[in-house]
Amino acid sequence: MERKWWKEGVVYQIYPRSFMDSNGDGIGDLRGIISKLPYLKELGVDIIWLCPVYKSPNDDNGYDISDYKDIMDEFGTMKDWEELLDEMHHLGMKLIMDLVINHTSDEHPWFLESRSSKDSAYRDYYIWRKGSKDKEPNNWLGCFGGSAWEYDNATGEYYLHLFTKRQPDLNWDNPKLRGEIYDMVRWWLDKGIDGFRLDAINCISKGPETLEELPQDSIERWGGLHFMDKPLVHHFLHEMNERVLSEYDIMTVGETPGVTPEDGILYTAEERKELSMIFQFELMDLDVGPKGKWDIVPWSLDDMKASITKWQLGLQEKGWNSLYLNNHDQPRMVSRFGNDTTYRKESAKLLATLIHTLQGTPYVYQGEEIGMTNVAFESIEQYRDIETLNYYHYGIHEKGLDPKDVMRAIHIKSRDNARTPMQWDCSRNAGFTSGTPWMDVNPNYTEINAKNEIHDPDSIFNYYKKLIGMRKALPVVVYGKFELIEQCKSPLFVYTRSLENQKLLVALNFSEDKRQLKLPEDILLESYSLILCNYANRLERNESANLMLPYEARIYLLE
Ligand code: GLC
Ligand code: CA
Repeated sequence: MERKWWKEGVVYQIYPRSFMDSNGDGIGDLRGIISKLPYLKELGVDIIWLCPVYKSPNDDNGYDISDYKDIMDEFGTMKDWEELLDEMHHLGMKLIMDLVINHTSDEHPWFLESRSSKDSAYRDYYIWRKGSKDKEPNNWLGCFGGSAWEYDNATGEYYLHLFTKRQPDLNWDNPKLRGEIYDMVRWWLDKGIDGFRLDAINCISKGPETLEELPQDSIERWGGLHFMDKPLVHHFLHEMNERVLSEYDIMTVGETPGVTPEDGILYTAEERKELSMIFQFELMDLDVGPKGKWDIVPWSLDDMKASITKWQLGLQEKGWNSLYLNNHDQPRMVSRFGNDTTYRKESAKLLATLIHTLQGTPYVYQGEEIGMTNVAFESIEQYRDIETLNYYHYGIHEKGLDPKDVMRAIHIKSRDNARTPMQWDCSRNAGFTSGTPWMDVNPNYTEINAKNEIHDPDSIFNYYKKLIGMRKALPVVVYGKFELIEQCKSPLFVYTRSLENQKLLVALNFSEDKRQLKLPEDILLESYSLILCNYANRLERNESANLMLPYEARIYLLE
């Protein structure tokens, strides 16, 4: 397998609006990020994924871009951005930008032109279909509720939007549009960035099926599901790679909901020259019921193990995956897959151990490294996310759901769980801003904050540092082959990674109970050394190695 910096690095994802506010307007910004680079350096991460900072009316917090070549006023200026890039490079970190090219904002000049007339030179930059005044071209839903089609008075036709109605989808079948996108991509690469995260990239090819109806009341009605992984996607990505990306030493990660490992290989196999890695969603679906995201069902460790094993074996030596358990679109991982009360520290470290010992590139989402948790705001007024607000309004006003049930689902699943301001210290507003934050801070900041974490040698933060350091020191962590130890049944999750004569053994106890660890006969613990454990002093205490404590995570090395 070819060695690459983006396989060996650790990505840290910044959601700028909530990271650090430098000027007291309550909104995180670029200068705020610059001021926190030493913190990230200390953590040891080497690649930063910056969520969108381009000009945007912020219908979907920057994922609706109105000018690809300028910076959002609230975040600062292009000069600030250049300083951020310089400073990161100076510290030995790389920057990847979020590239949102499935759609633009409805305020993008292309769309303003496109909607102005059927004869506009830009008409075909977007996807327009006839319908009748009160019937959409078909029954597809947008991802955030409501129809995927919006009627536009000016020309009496509908445009397609897989996300909000202020995010019209681009028409990738148009070679002129593609040319403009590639030019813009080159423009950013020439500024010296180190790559891109490509938003919803497996949905860009819409194909001729645009007018098909989908079965009523099935989750399948989300139009996006119908567009994913169409054959032309690969043609487009390969074209972009040939025409631009291949000229630079960069990493690209494609956000690809719904893909299988076979698709993953098509996107990331080196010889196909499309993307460096994918960002797939299977673990994010473990608690999703038949009616979609808000239909919450319990997740099971057996399903998690099956999914991880499938992907580890499926991409081994053929492709490359991203490893994550949360991001700006998902609840906090310790609340979702761990225990955010009694065993918050232990389970946060256990989940981190999992992510940092699998094959793929690990992603740390801001605040994860200090064990930030979900938030349960009392009032819908405290929420900001368009998806959450739409769900609330559709749920209560159109579907007649009980507001209590709706709020309960929001507490578990809202994207705002991950978007509350970063908790830096125990001063007012968690040290995030001197003004009024754009969204309330999670009230647990007096206990959970970066300052406490940095000073406590046994903290989650300091455990992440060790995990990241281990990745740098041991090639087996990056390149080793994965093997599940099937004999160790849930709630234990035990596996090995092997590379030449190095072998790693990882044992995780996903429960609040003590558990016996019974390994197969060919694994002799005596010949391994314990190199990391989430219970302090476990190494010295020399307690029975066969007993795993609640949420205990151990990494052994055989050399
Ligand atoms: C991606 C982003 C999400 C955004 C959506 C539309 O899924 O991660 O935040 O809302 O695309 O751009
Ligand atoms: Ca600010």
